[in-house]
Order: sequence, then structure tokens, then C-alpha cells
Amino acid sequence: MTTSSAPGKVYLFGEHAVVYGEPAIPCAIERRARVTVEPREDDHVRVEARDLTLDGFTVEYDGSTGDRPDVAVPSSLVDAAMGYVDAAVRQARAAAESPKAGFNITVESDIPLGAGLGSSAAVVVALIDAATRSLDAPIETREVANRAYRAEFEVQDGQASRADTFCSAMGGAVRVEGDDCQTIETPRLPIVVGFDGGAGDTGTLVSGVRELKNTYSFAADTVSSIGDIVRRGELLLAESDPTAAPSEQLLTELGELMNFNHGLLSALGVSSRSLDAMVWSARDAGAYGAKLTGAGGGGCIVALDSTPETRTALRFTPGCEDAFRAELSMDGVRVEEP
Ligand code: MEV
Repeated sequence: MTTSSAPGKVYLFGEHAVVYGEPAIPCAIERRARVTVEPREDDHVRVEARDLTLDGFTVEYDGSTGDRPDVAVPSSLVDAAMGYVDAAVRQARAAAESPKAGFNITVESDIPLGAGLGSSAAVVVALIDAATRSLDAPIETREVANRAYRAEFEVQDGQASRADTFCSAMGGAVRVEGDDCQTIETPRLPIVVGFDGGAGDTGTLVSGVRELKNTYSFAADTVSSIGDIVRRGELLLAESDPTAAPSEQLLTELGELMNFNHGLLSALGVSSRSLDAMVWSARDAGAYGAKLTGAGGGGCIVALDSTPETRTALRFTPGCEDAFRAELSMDGVRVEEP
């Protein structure tokens, strides 16, 4: 029995545009998916998933027959989760050169599904790591990231960047531009997350942006402008001292860039009423800046603040289900005690 865990993430800057080769800066956060894998004698795959939303639910699914019992969550969420699990199993089998390997898999996660915090990437990364280790065929962390990217790419019909999976595998803050993936140093930023209890469909949202970008030159310009924001943000982070508390000036400038980034994502049609409400609520409460994080459509926003006021204001915002401080996770994928 092998257990691996991997962190979720927030995007400081650059989601969606990263799909088209612009840079992005996601940061791993201390919310993790844990996957326990036990090899089986036969070639079946049995998956038990727990706590895949902040409220938690349990799903049991027999991967060998496709039979799935009734569950008290929208089946689209279960379908989405199982799509990622199946693709990760295929990658683990290929990496271990054991195409018929069977597994009992247990997924536990405190990252809400489809809410912009990288739940699918964390599950896929932890699963590939645990499954290959359980077959005595462990692979390097960068190869876990690479295989996890291929799994996401397959599930999202070829519309995925390496950002989510690389960040979850490596931990910390990362910069991704096309195939160029690097970890970067940042000061500990005071990150607050607001969650509306909802989820967005990444594939549909990415397709929507693609359509706009292909239809209107100004939508394509908007995507490039997001890239400009990321480059500016990256420079600010590179000029700051990662060992010191972030300066007021750094937070103010990063916050301004986050606000701009949110406006452009909104123009590309991936925000929502509740995400906008939380963004405005955080700003009104004095946050340096706020933006949606991840694919959008519903789910989470990320704000920069160093006082509890932002969290309190978010909790009182209609449509906000939870607000919490998100600490940067320096650990990416790691083996856990079962
Ligand atoms: C989803 O978490 C982030 C997107 O940029 C898609 C991707 O990078 O694969 C919307």
C-alpha cells in the first residue's frame, strides 16, 4: 500500500492565457489530495473517492465494470473526477510498463472539485506517483509532472497547459511558459481564498476563450495583455527578497496587477456573478488586489491581504460559502504514511 499526496494551487497570474503559450505563475497551497494505491492480483481498478468537496462526499466506483452506485452529488462532478482518475491510471501503467496492472485506489482530498484550486491536477499527480511506487517503478518528480500533464491534456481534449500539474508536482511558486517550467522564489504572500461552493467546467471555459480569441482580434490582444501582466508580475517577484516579508510596495503593485488580470479574464467571459461579488468584497475590505483563480465560471477567487478583514468580508458576501488563508506549500508531491 502506497500513499502519496500533492497540493492544490492558486494562480497569482496567467490562467487561460497560459494555454496559448503566454507565461503563468501558479503557487501551490496547503490543501492536498492524498491517494492510496494497492496493487491487485487481477487487472481491475477500483476507486473510492472521499471528501472531494469542502463539504465532503463518498463515491465508490468499480473501474473494471463501469458500474457506479447512486451518489448524492451531481454526476457531472463524479464523471469529471473519474475521467482524470482513469487517465492517470493509464499514465501510471505506461510509466511502469505494466499495461495490465490492477489497483485499489482511495482518493481523499480537501481541495474542492473544479473550483480553480487544481483539484484534478493534485489527484492525477498523487495517483501517478503512488501507483508507480506501488509497482516498485517510481519515477522522477518532473516525469510525474509530465505524465500528469499528458493525463490532463487527454481529459481536456488537448486544451491544457503544464501549469497546474507542474505546480502540484513541484510545490512552491512556479513559472510556466509553453514547455518551459521552472520553480521560482517568492516572499511568503498573504493569500486569501474565497469559495462560492460552485465549480466550472474547465474544458468548456477553455473552449469559450478559444472561440473568442479566434473570432475577435481584440480577444486575442486580451490574451497577450494577460501575458504582459504576468511578465510585469514576474519582474516584481524577481526583484523582491524571498527571505523577507513582502513590502507594502510589492503587495500594492502585485494587487494592482491581479485586479487588471481579473478584469481581462472577465472580458474573456470566464468570471461569474459570485466570483465578481467576492472580488469586489475583498477589494472593499482593503485587499491589495483580487482575481478569480483557475478556469473560472464559479469556484474560487484569490486575494492579497494581511489582515483578517478580507476573510470576514468574504464570509458575509452573498454567494460566498467559505473563506480561508492559503499558505504557500513548498512541498509538491510527497510520500505519506498510509
Ligand atoms: C485551469 O486550472 C487553468 C487553465 O489555464 C487551463 C490550463 O492551464 O490547462 C484555465
